[in-house]
Amino acid sequence: MSTLTVAVDPPYDVEIAPGALELVAAKLKDRKRVAVVSQATIADTYSARLLASIESETNARVGLFLMGDGETSKSMTTVEDLCRRFADWGLLRGDAIVALGGGVVGDTAGFAAAVYHRGVAIVQVPTTLLAMVDAAIGGKTAVNLAEGKNLVGAFHQPVAVVVDTSTLETLGQREFLSGLGEVAKYALLTDVVADPTGLTALLRLRSSAVLDRDPDVLTEVVACCVAIKAEVVAADPFEQTGRRATLNLGHTFAHALETVGGYDLTHGEAVAIGLVFAGALAGACGRVGSDVVDRYQALPHALGLPTQVPDGESGDPEQLLAVMRRDKKAAGGLSFVLPGQNGIERVDDPSDEALRYAFASVGIGI
Ligand SMILES: NC(=O)c1ccc[n+]([C@@H]2O[C@H](COP(=O)([O-])OP(=O)(O)OC[C@H]3O[C@@H](n4cnc5c(N)ncnc54)[C@H](O)[C@@H]3O)[C@@H](O)[C@H]2O)c1
Repeated sequence: MSTLTVAVDPPYDVEIAPGALELVAAKLKDRKRVAVVSQATIADTYSARLLASIESETNARVGLFLMGDGETSKSMTTVEDLCRRFADWGLLRGDAIVALGGGVVGDTAGFAAAVYHRGVAIVQVPTTLLAMVDAAIGGKTAVNLAEGKNLVGAFHQPVAVVVDTSTLETLGQREFLSGLGEVAKYALLTDVVADPTGLTALLRLRSSAVLDRDPDVLTEVVACCVAIKAEVVAADPFEQTGRRATLNLGHTFAHALETVGGYDLTHGEAVAIGLVFAGALAGACGRVGSDVVDRYQALPHALGLPTQVPDGESGDPEQLLAVMRRDKKAAGGLSFVLPGQNGIERVDDPSDEALRYAFASVGIGI
């Protein structure tokens, strides 16, 4: 088991272990009521065990509140529905919410927790790899509007995060691979910055155990990723200094692929291709050598992730560039997060030649 601390104010622990669902109750000792928010497929498998353990180890009344699946359920309508059901059930400010699920549950229940009674405690219990290494850590919560994704949200840090890596056994293969895209990002963040023997080596040496979802190896992998995210979040809790933006490595191109659409890629698959693009772009800008460019391609590949844009011949670079210019970080120009001599940095407006090389590296002619 790993216990890591996110050193924000107040600090909170992230417990990571196979079977860690049993540890959730200990985070709720002084609560009178606990509202567990989840989705039907997840609750069918995991909620009975979780609710029984909270009921037997605390004096709290426990209720299960199901919400819908998918991005369309990450909405103001769901937040209102949850808050009304909480009120009906008697949830008060000193009580707690538990988010049992992936990033959709975590973001929606997290935002509901931020606004219900002007803020109630939330314990994040992520059940997808993406939520374990990313969404559940750091206190960013949001829901979507018809006008765009994550447009309404709040910073609301959890009181604890409990990661049961054995819940990954039931996750669909594409969802699991999608999480590995973010894992590859963390590995490449540390690969260049600080720790060449950490996560990268673990992924290289144990890639088959990772792909077989060995819960002990996944505990180590998730702990490495959480340690990196926790450090960045503690340095820049409200996303004000630019430090937190380094977590967007690979994401400028990934968001463009997702926005242009039509590629049928999960977020993590898009991030994997975005990492290849970022490595190639950094190489073409003379920021890193060919060894680093190669690693940005080899690591996603070793994890079974795509490294080329599907149907690259038909990819429209002008459309992708237009979307990247609209990216909220770019303020009109083109902005990327790239490796270099000084670590991971924001780089604005690379040359057309460097962009052409990066597009070609992911299978798009320009
Ligand atoms: N707040 C943040 O900092 C942050 C960071 C990254 C992503 N996000 C958000 O996270 C969301 C994506 O999250 P996600 O990838 O976890 O998707 P998701 O929450 O939609 O989960 C994917 C699917 O897997 C199912 N599922 C979850 N756990 C399962 C399990 N253990 N076994 C079987 N099925 C399971 C879910 O019911 C769902 O159908 C996006 O909305 C994104 O914006 C937020």
